[in-house]
Amino acid sequence: MSKAARDPNTPIGPDPTRGPAERARELRRLIAYHSNRYHQLDDPEIPDADYDLLVDELRAIEESHPELVVEESPTQTVGAPASTLFAQAPHRVPMMSLDKVVSLDDLLAWGARTKRLLDLDDEQAEQLRLVCEPKIDGLSISITYDHGRFVRAATRGDGRVGEDVTDNVRTIKDVPLELALDESELPADLEVRGEVYLPIVAFQELNARQQAAEDRLFANPRNAAAGSLRQRDPKVTAGRALSIFTYQVVSGDSAPAGAGQASSGAAAVRLETDAAIGHQSASLDLLRRAGFPVNPKTRTVTGLDAVFAYCKELEAERHALGYEIDGIVVKIDDLSLHRRLGATSHAPRWAVAYKFPPEERTTLLEAIMVSIGRTGRATPFAKLTPVLVGGSTVSLASLHNQDQVALKDVRPGDTVVVRKAGDVIPEVVGPVLSERPKGLEPWHFPTACPSCRGALVRLEGEADTYCVNLGCPGQQIQRIAHFASRGAMDIEGLGEQRVRQLIDAGLISDAADIFSLTVEQLSGLEGYAEISARNLVAAIDASRSRPLPNLLVAMGIRHVGGTVAQELSSVFGDLDGIMSASEEGLAAIPGVGGTIASSVVGHFGTKRNRAFVERLREAQVSFGTQKVSDLPQVLTGKAVVVTGTLEGYSREGAEEAVTGRGGKSPGSVSAKTMALVIGSNPGASKLSKAEQLGIPILDEEGFGRLLETGELP
Ligand code: IVH
Repeated sequence: MSKAARDPNTPIGPDPTRGPAERARELRRLIAYHSNRYHQLDDPEIPDADYDLLVDELRAIEESHPELVVEESPTQTVGAPASTLFAQAPHRVPMMSLDKVVSLDDLLAWGARTKRLLDLDDEQAEQLRLVCEPKIDGLSISITYDHGRFVRAATRGDGRVGEDVTDNVRTIKDVPLELALDESELPADLEVRGEVYLPIVAFQELNARQQAAEDRLFANPRNAAAGSLRQRDPKVTAGRALSIFTYQVVSGDSAPAGAGQASSGAAAVRLETDAAIGHQSASLDLLRRAGFPVNPKTRTVTGLDAVFAYCKELEAERHALGYEIDGIVVKIDDLSLHRRLGATSHAPRWAVAYKFPPEERTTLLEAIMVSIGRTGRATPFAKLTPVLVGGSTVSLASLHNQDQVALKDVRPGDTVVVRKAGDVIPEVVGPVLSERPKGLEPWHFPTACPSCRGALVRLEGEADTYCVNLGCPGQQIQRIAHFASRGAMDIEGLGEQRVRQLIDAGLISDAADIFSLTVEQLSGLEGYAEISARNLVAAIDASRSRPLPNLLVAMGIRHVGGTVAQELSSVFGDLDGIMSASEEGLAAIPGVGGTIASSVVGHFGTKRNRAFVERLREAQVSFGTQKVSDLPQVLTGKAVVVTGTLEGYSREGAEEAVTGRGGKSPGSVSAKTMALVIGSNPGASKLSKAEQLGIPILDEEGFGRLLETGELP
């Protein structure tokens, strides 16, 4: 496939400039192929977002060419026909899909349409009660109870006929076999709908077991859940830790207008519970009382502003939930309004799905390259045609090591699935095999370092490959750039590109050399005016007095990050103390231990590293005691974690404000954390951990008071 052949921002497939009839046929073929992989094989090749783009494109063609619409078009149907693997299970009330929106503006438009359809005035619209529920990424299920006893379970299928998976659903521990309702509340007949899903930990454990058994791996928890439920042998399902969240008590009125024919008079079906339940929120209460899991994040709110706030909150938290959600479902609370609004051919008008931006997309893998890190580690990475995924444009993604490339069997020229979830670095999930051009060769790990052409060596039993030439310029660049980076010597203007330029110009060959750079030398280089040369020399000069923990981090000692560096600095006070400490002495320090101690001793035991230290001393870099703070030591022994962007402090500034008062500012929340300070866009995992552990959460104002007094506000 040529580089230009595929723009990842348009759907997979041939040139869409061909005639609309031909493109519509092609799209239906592609959609049928991917729908089969998703619904029948539980093994999709492309992400949902790419699939949705295919359907959206077909819908657009059909809208401008209504003559091309055919009854069986995927734009007119829900899900996929039930497979022959199970007995058929017709639904009394069709299981519908949901209309989706992808922005808060679209959500506003849904609100405006609903207001118009219900003929509400502004105040009534503002007072509209809405139930917000996480949109669980699993598979929908209908479960029927007869006089409180579980009798039948069915998948959605095409919405009218599902698959009878009664014996499999019976094995799911969270599904009650007897309803926990009093006689007075117990309906003769109850149909409950919800989503079967696999918690993320269970998914990871399942894939680990599959790998050990050399069985196929599941692409994500949703497919693992579907594959686990749709098993011939219910014993296999029983071993899969499936869970469920329920969200609907079905009444005949859930049926769409005109859906009656196919669902044998569904509109006439009116279950007994319906009379008693007037609201979605009350349905959820009933489900809880009956013993079903109902999602704890569900919230009933008034008006769309509160829905927006809920969407933002849940989006920030989504990676800390322990199960996957792909959006939020907003439902009108009052069921009588459901009846007034009715449904389109495939979705009710009383609900809408707000979908989060996709975290997986396909794009072209243009090349696999290898980067050399400061320790010489050779890391393969993917150069991709830029694609918008997980909220940012991704053009590079790590492939980790040689075995990972082989395992995923991704080849330059492949269309690949790229994943970017939250703060995690982008990842290449795997190739889309149906898109692989014929004759594409597997990729082989290079034998020579791309920087110095020296040998790349992989030791027996190790996953990583290294360039073992200590003089390799690739390694040097990374070592120096690390030395100058934030959290280390923090030298503004000395990034990787500049370092490369200085090495190429023969002005430096290691980090100690930077201290003898002059304005005259720099001014002669491309891209430096006298002012930028002066600025860099000044920034280098300022770095001479960085606190000891920064210097330790800058040295790049294995296992010595910011927290350990702080600990060593506060115990020993200066670099000479650390260099002459014994391994036992170091290992005895809390938070240090044997591995770090031996790494520190090993580092300073090397002649080359000692010589480097002496050159820094000559360059008058401070090895001194941590600046003893004249600030009140109100946080001695306390740990305060900071997350998100604060207005009045940089991240380092906030951490220094804590350490300057005798406290610690570790990178993660634990039971020992005194408080979590949150700015805008806080890390979801820190936030949810703090909530779980009941750690006080402070905003910037609360942080200010904590710094002043050492007391929680
Ligand atoms: S309500 C008639 N609520 O999303 C609409 N659906 O894209 C009934 N889903 O088929 C669905 N979480 O499988 C509803 N809280 C939730 C949901 C949810 C996940 C799934 C469900 C549905 C699909 C539509």
